[in-house]
Amino acid sequence: MKIIFLGPPGVGKGTQAAQAAAAQGIPHISTGEILRAEVEAGSDLGGRAKAYMDRGELVPDDLVVAMVAQRLAQPDCASGYLLDGFPRTMAQAAALEAKLAERNEAVDTVLYFSAPDDVLIRRLSGRRACPACKAGFHVEAMPPKTEGICDKCGTELIQRDDDKPETIQNRLEVYAAQTAELIDHYRQAGSLVEIDSAGKVGEIAGTVNKALAA
Ligand code: AP5
Repeated sequence: MKIIFLGPPGVGKGTQAAQAAAAQGIPHISTGEILRAEVEAGSDLGGRAKAYMDRGELVPDDLVVAMVAQRLAQPDCASGYLLDGFPRTMAQAAALEAKLAERNEAVDTVLYFSAPDDVLIRRLSGRRACPACKAGFHVEAMPPKTEGICDKCGTELIQRDDDKPETIQNRLEVYAAQTAELIDHYRQAGSLVEIDSAGKVGEIAGTVNKALAA
């Protein structure tokens, strides 16, 4: 299975991708997570990506395409993968399709997650993350047992730099300008399944698992 999770910032792609990839037995590949790990490690790629990420802009296609190609060449991707947050531009989609075509392969399913902007803003502003084990929380929807502390490893939770209000607004605008056209692209290809993501995590997970089993 080669699956893409597409949708605006904060819609819940990462939350759903983690459970769906585990259910399918395939790796969950989040370009946002890989880029944040590169920034944390102080790598050359991380250094080049950081300023774009801090502003809520997309990291240039050539950097992201090379990074994903390297990840997809790993042995754990041989029988499939779930791409979360990639592709995000038409150029990235074309690069992925060209790479797959070399092996007579194609993307199987694109799940497009949608929710109104006010829901996205609430989810992004309330998101908290564990800097150590990377567990995700939300101050209202998925609060930790002890406020501000990771349930899994006891580390103090942080708010992502790009979840501050002015950056959230820019990320939504960047999504509309550069990523939203992929919806029609995959709809025309016949691989798009739309998932209404305004509801509860468990209900959406049920819809996602049904869509992937179809
Ligand atoms: P990335 O990390 O991919 O950010 P994003 O796409 O903006 O997505 P998010 O991680 O913000 O949201 P999500 O949809 O995964 O929601 P989540 O499940 O966390 O990218 C970050 C940056 O990296 C980009 O801005 C860019 O600079 C760069 N980048 C990454 N990929 C790139 C690419 N391909 N090309 C170029 N640049 C790239 O949920 C959000 C919150 O809501 C959480 O707190 C969660 O607990 C909560 N929540 C989830 N579901 C629900 C629900 N149903 N009800 C209530 N709360 C919920």
